[in-house]
Amino acid sequence: MSSAERDLMRIVIVGHVDHGKSTLVGRLFHDTGSLPDGKFEAIKAMCERRGMPFEWAFLMDAFQSERDQGITIDTAQIWFKTALRDYTIIDAPGHREFIKNMITGASSAEAALMLIDAGQGIQQQSRLHAFLLNLLGVKQIVVLVNKMDLVDFSEARFAEIAREYSSYLGSLGIKASYIIPLAARDGDNIATKSARTPWYPGPTLIEALDSFTPAAPLAALPLRLPIQDIYKFDDRRILAGRVVSGRFKVGDTLLFSPSNKTAKVASIEGWSAPEAHDAEAGQSVGVTLDEQLFIERGEMASHVDTAPIETNAFKAKLFWLAKKPLKLGENYRLRLQTRDVNVVVESIVCIYDAESFSARPSEIVERNDIAEVILRSTALLALDGVEANPKTGRFVLSDGRNILAGGTIALEGYPDQRRMVTVRSANITDVAHGVTAAQRTLRNGHPGGVLWLTGLSGAGKSTIAMAVEQELFRRGFHVFVLDGDNVRRGLSANLGFAPEDRAENIRRIGEVATLFAESGQIVITAFISPYRTDRQRARQAAEATATTVFHEIYIKADLATCEGRDPKGLYQKARAGEIAEFTGISAPYEPPLKPELVVDTEKLSIADAVACVVSYVESRFRKPG
Ligand code: ADX
Repeated sequence: MSSAERDLMRIVIVGHVDHGKSTLVGRLFHDTGSLPDGKFEAIKAMCERRGMPFEWAFLMDAFQSERDQGITIDTAQIWFKTALRDYTIIDAPGHREFIKNMITGASSAEAALMLIDAGQGIQQQSRLHAFLLNLLGVKQIVVLVNKMDLVDFSEARFAEIAREYSSYLGSLGIKASYIIPLAARDGDNIATKSARTPWYPGPTLIEALDSFTPAAPLAALPLRLPIQDIYKFDDRRILAGRVVSGRFKVGDTLLFSPSNKTAKVASIEGWSAPEAHDAEAGQSVGVTLDEQLFIERGEMASHVDTAPIETNAFKAKLFWLAKKPLKLGENYRLRLQTRDVNVVVESIVCIYDAESFSARPSEIVERNDIAEVILRSTALLALDGVEANPKTGRFVLSDGRNILAGGTIALEGYPDQRRMVTVRSANITDVAHGVTAAQRTLRNGHPGGVLWLTGLSGAGKSTIAMAVEQELFRRGFHVFVLDGDNVRRGLSANLGFAPEDRAENIRRIGEVATLFAESGQIVITAFISPYRTDRQRARQAAEATATTVFHEIYIKADLATCEGRDPKGLYQKARAGEIAEFTGISAPYEPPLKPELVVDTEKLSIADAVACVVSYVESRFRKPG
C-alpha cells in the first residue's frame, strides 16, 4: 500500500502537565521508527555538547520550534506510523483549546490517551479530562499509568489506580478500552512488551491503538456538497462548491436542500483541470445540471435517498467563546457550511459545569462554558447530526463579524420537515395556454404583476392595500387584494403562526398571487410575511413564469409605532402572553434587504402612502402611449 492509501487516525493525549506527555510523544516517534533520519542522533549530540542529560521531551521541543518557524508541513499536528496505519497527534496545549477544537471540528480526536502519573495518582485534571472526553463523544480511550519505574513497577499500585479510575469513568458512563502500565522514558510497554511488568497480560500501547476503529473516511459518508457560488457563463449555470463528504458522478440525480429541487449532473468541471466523470470528498468542483434550477449559495446537494434533515429547530452542544454571554431569546447568525442564517436561542437546556463535572440549568452561557441549547432558525436548514456527519453536523455562531461559538448538532426530538416542501405529485406536464400574456396585456391595458406588501402587524398593509386597490380600480386597472386575515379564513384556515405554518401560508399566497398575475391582474398581497426566505420563495414563484414581475413593497413602521397603534388590540394581548409567537414580540420580523419600494408610514399620511404606491404602479404597469 502506498502511503497515500494508508489509514490515518487522530489521537489526542491528555493528562496533568507533569505526567509525561512530551516524553511519551518523543518515545512514540522513536519506538515506531517515525523520526526523520538523524533527528534522534542530532539531539543526542546536542545534549552531549551542552553537557545535559538526554530527554525525550527535547524531541517535542525540536518539533515545536520547527513548527514555529514553519518548517514542518503541518502546523498543528504531528504524526507517527505503525505497520497498520498513520497516527496524528492532536496538540491539546490546554483543555479549553482542546474543547474548542473538538467542538468546532478544527481537530477531532477518534481516540484518546489519558496519562496518569503512577506516583501522584488521579488528580483533579484526570477527572476533568474524562468528563470532557465523554462530553465530546470520544469513546476509544487508553488510560496510561505512567512513570511505573518510580513505583518499582508495583502491580499493587497499578491495580489501585486502575480500580479507582475505572470506577470514576464508570460513574460517567464510560469505560476505558485499555489500562496500561508504562514507563514512557524507558519505552516500557510502548512498542514492546516490558520485562519489568510480567504481571501485566494486556497489549502494548501500539497494539492497543492499532486495535481501535478509525472514523469512516469522509468519502464513504453520504454525499454533501454545499453550494458556494453560482457562476453564469452564457446561458450555462455552474454550481461551485467543495465536496465535504461522499462522492458523486455524472448522471447522478442531485437533491438540493432546503429548496428540495432535483436535477441530474450533466458535467463536473474541475478548476483548471479537465472535465471529470466523478468527484469525492475534499475536491472543489463546478457542476452543471441537465435543467436550469434556481439554486442559491447555501443550498446543500446530496443524493435523494441519503438526504440531510430539513428542520428549523435543533438541539446543539456549543462552546461559547465570546466575552458577552449568550442569552436566552437572543438572535445570532448561524453558519452551516456555506449557509448563513439568523437563529434565535429558544432555550438553554443546561450548562456543563467543569468545576463540579455536572449539568445545571441557566439563563445565560458565559465565556468558555459548554452548553446544550435549542436553536431555531427562520428558514429551513439542511443539516445532519454530528454523529452522522462530522462536517455538516457542525456550525458556528457569530454576530455577523466575530465568531461567538462553535457547536455540534444533535437531532433528537426534531422532525424532518422535508415533507412540507416536497412536490409529491408525479406525471405532471405543463399545459400551454391558448391566450398569451401579451394578448392579455393588450386587452387589459397593462400586464399582470405582484405587489407584495410586507411589514409588521399594524404597519398599515391592509389599509394601504385596500385603498390602492380602490384607486387603481377607479383608474381602470384589473386589481385584487389578497389579505392576511381574509386568506387565513379560507385558503390557509388550517395554518397557525408557527414558523413552518407561516412558511406554508406564504408559499400558498406566493403561488396564488402568481396565478392571479398570470391571469392579467395586478395582485396586491398584504401579509406580514416576516421571513425573507418565504418572501424570496414567493418572488421565485412569480419569476419562474418569465412574464410576472414581483415588486416587494416594505410598509415600514417600527415596533413601537405599531404597538402604539395596535388597531386590533393584538399587541396588548401578545404582551400579556395571550398570543404565542406574535410577530415583533415573540416571533421575528426580517425587514426586506432590497425592496423595490419603501413606504414609511411613520412619516407619510395614509393618503400620501397610497399615492406613492399608485404612482409606482402607474410608472411600472401603464403601457407607454
Ligand atoms: S404571516 O406571518 O403568515 O404573514 P399573516 O399576514 O397571514 O401572517 O397574518 C397576520 C395577521 O394575523 C395579523 O394581522 C393578526 O391580525 C393575526 N395574528 C394572529 N396571531 C398572530 C401572530 N401570532 N403573529 C402575527 N399575527 C397574528
